[in-house]
Amino acid sequence: MSSIAIANIGELVTWAADRPVRHDAGLVVSDGSVAWVGDTTDLPAADELIDAGGRAVIPGFVDSHTHLVFAGDRAAEFTARMAGERYAAGGIRTTVAATRAAGQAELTRLATARMAELRAQGTTTVEIKSGYGLDTDTEELLLRVASGLTTETTYLGAHVVPDGWTTQAYVALVTGEMLDRCAPHARWIDAFCEVGAFDVDAARTVLTAGMAAGLQPRLHANQLGHGPGVQLACELGAAAADHCTYLSDADVTALADSGVVAGLLPGVEFSTRHPYPDARRLLSAGVRVAIATDCNPGTSYTSSMPFCIALAVREMGMAPLEALHAATAGGAASLRRTDVGHLGLGARADLVILEAPSHVHLAYRPGVPLVHRVLTTPESQWEGWRDGFSPRGRPAPRTGA
Ligand code: NIG
Ligand code: FE
Repeated sequence: MSSIAIANIGELVTWAADRPVRHDAGLVVSDGSVAWVGDTTDLPAADELIDAGGRAVIPGFVDSHTHLVFAGDRAAEFTARMAGERYAAGGIRTTVAATRAAGQAELTRLATARMAELRAQGTTTVEIKSGYGLDTDTEELLLRVASGLTTETTYLGAHVVPDGWTTQAYVALVTGEMLDRCAPHARWIDAFCEVGAFDVDAARTVLTAGMAAGLQPRLHANQLGHGPGVQLACELGAAAADHCTYLSDADVTALADSGVVAGLLPGVEFSTRHPYPDARRLLSAGVRVAIATDCNPGTSYTSSMPFCIALAVREMGMAPLEALHAATAGGAASLRRTDVGHLGLGARADLVILEAPSHVHLAYRPGVPLVHRVLTTPESQWEGWRDGFSPRGRPAPRTGA
């Protein structure tokens, strides 16, 4: 048994049903789980004491949508977009070329450095997709690298059709040999259902093949325009329909009725100049909402959940507490996890002590590094760093920033 008591928490966000936010609180972690929550004046003794000094404590962010394993960047494409050029899905092929040219060691180094960035900004659970390989060997390699960093790995062979292939032939590969090689390294199956990528029939074929192989579905849907992606996600009972930038009333109703989580990725709209998704409309309809970074070199090269929270509050009609919920509990729902994204009794003790008295500062002080300290449990995926994935070549500490 090892225990840590945290005293003098100015504001503690647990998402407990009876009292989601407490003040002047204390919390005890025992063997990696939240074992006690209450007033700081009643705090039980523990092996170690941390004084939060009036700071806010929140659940670690759950980033439910990233493409962290890739090489190269597309800064020139970004510059052109800021000058008025439109985003097109075909830019993915640029990153595919750079990724295929990089070896396992370089891809691991790059992805591990990005993981360190995420963690420094308070993220403690991360989903990572393949999708910049688009051939069997490279897709499998990307998932092997991702598996060294997280348990939430997603096979996205159906990101775009690679040069020299017909859609029909490529879908056969993605649902055949490539699936056989990738499924052992993935929990999820995803597809980019969009003009310029895969139409609804191809996306359905890919997701159902993945489901038959034991993977759970999630989908890139309705990012660049109105389309059938969200309806497909609801039809298949996907965990999440991500992007949801262009939605009809029927799409909103289908999301609410099905319980499919709408993943909102405002870094994309920031970087592509598309309109931001309307989170208020979704919340008013009773849709479960997650916020994620979509960290990728094409449409959203940010690893910062606080930045995405700030955008959600400024541009998407969310209250700061709603945005924090979507970035923690919402992300957990998107990944069908009940052990993370909250700090109720029994939850995994992945938490962030903010250099701020309240969660509101995450949006109120955009661009300011507000993470004072991150605590993760021995069981957390970050522990993978002990096995050679440590940033700067040393093991990640069990606790501490
Ligand atoms: O989520 N939409 C598809 N995939 C990424 C973009 C990938 C890229 O442009 O490299 C996204 O936005
Ligand atoms: Fe994406």
